[in-house]
Amino acid sequence: MNDSNSRGIWEWGIVRLILLLSLLVFGFCIAIEGYTEEGVRLLIRWSARISVTCFCIAFAGKYIHQYMQNSFSFWLYMNRKFWGISFALIHIFHLFALGILQYSFHPVFTTAAGISLFGGGLAYLFIVLMLLTSFDTFAKLLSAKQWTILHTIGGYWIMFIFTRSYTKGLLMGDYWDLIFLSMLVGVWMLRLFGLLKRR
Ligand code: HEM
Repeated sequence: MNDSNSRGIWEWGIVRLILLLSLLVFGFCIAIEGYTEEGVRLLIRWSARISVTCFCIAFAGKYIHQYMQNSFSFWLYMNRKFWGISFALIHIFHLFALGILQYSFHPVFTTAAGISLFGGGLAYLFIVLMLLTSFDTFAKLLSAKQWTILHTIGGYWIMFIFTRSYTKGLLMGDYWDLIFLSMLVGVWMLRLFGLLKRR
């Protein structure tokens, strides 16, 4: 799509905007809490919040457009690849910030349960493969069917890990998590109805 000037922000413009917004939010986290364990943890939580929002748009964009059928849903749908790229980049930052937490403040990888490391690690494998195959150079190494299988299974696994994390957070009393859990429940429902409709 080349008419980005005439119709607002499209494609890489979205990625740039999300990266800029994230930078501001992460800067705020450190400005508020300082370069402390709490500051880095806040940054980790906000990286998850921004990335889950991008992920939900990418993973449900097609279904949102099927139900809404307006210019906004069309914009979400047409740019879903770039919402996906934004999600992956911000979530890679989540991992980078976890590395800072590990080495400077708290050995998070050492103390995490093996099953959580496996679940999170597998999600990261999917994130990297899905990010790479969003570009033609790597996408052409897969058949259309293999590409769809990778992005469908990967998408559901990532959504499962997000849903698990926010359910756990909510149960532990973090009410911010309700916003993001509701968003994820909405995506699960849209995907489920979409599947049922296709049958
Ligand atoms: C092995 C890799 C991972 C590790 C060790 C890890 C660890 C953590 C830690 C320690 C926090 C909490 C920071 C705090 O509140 O103090 C956190 C937050 C979070 N992580 Fe990860 N994470 C990993 C991968 C992932 C992946 C792949 C996803 C999603 C696809 C994810 C989703 C989340 C979410 C949603 C939160 C925020 C929860 C909230 O706001 O209450 N994490 N992660």
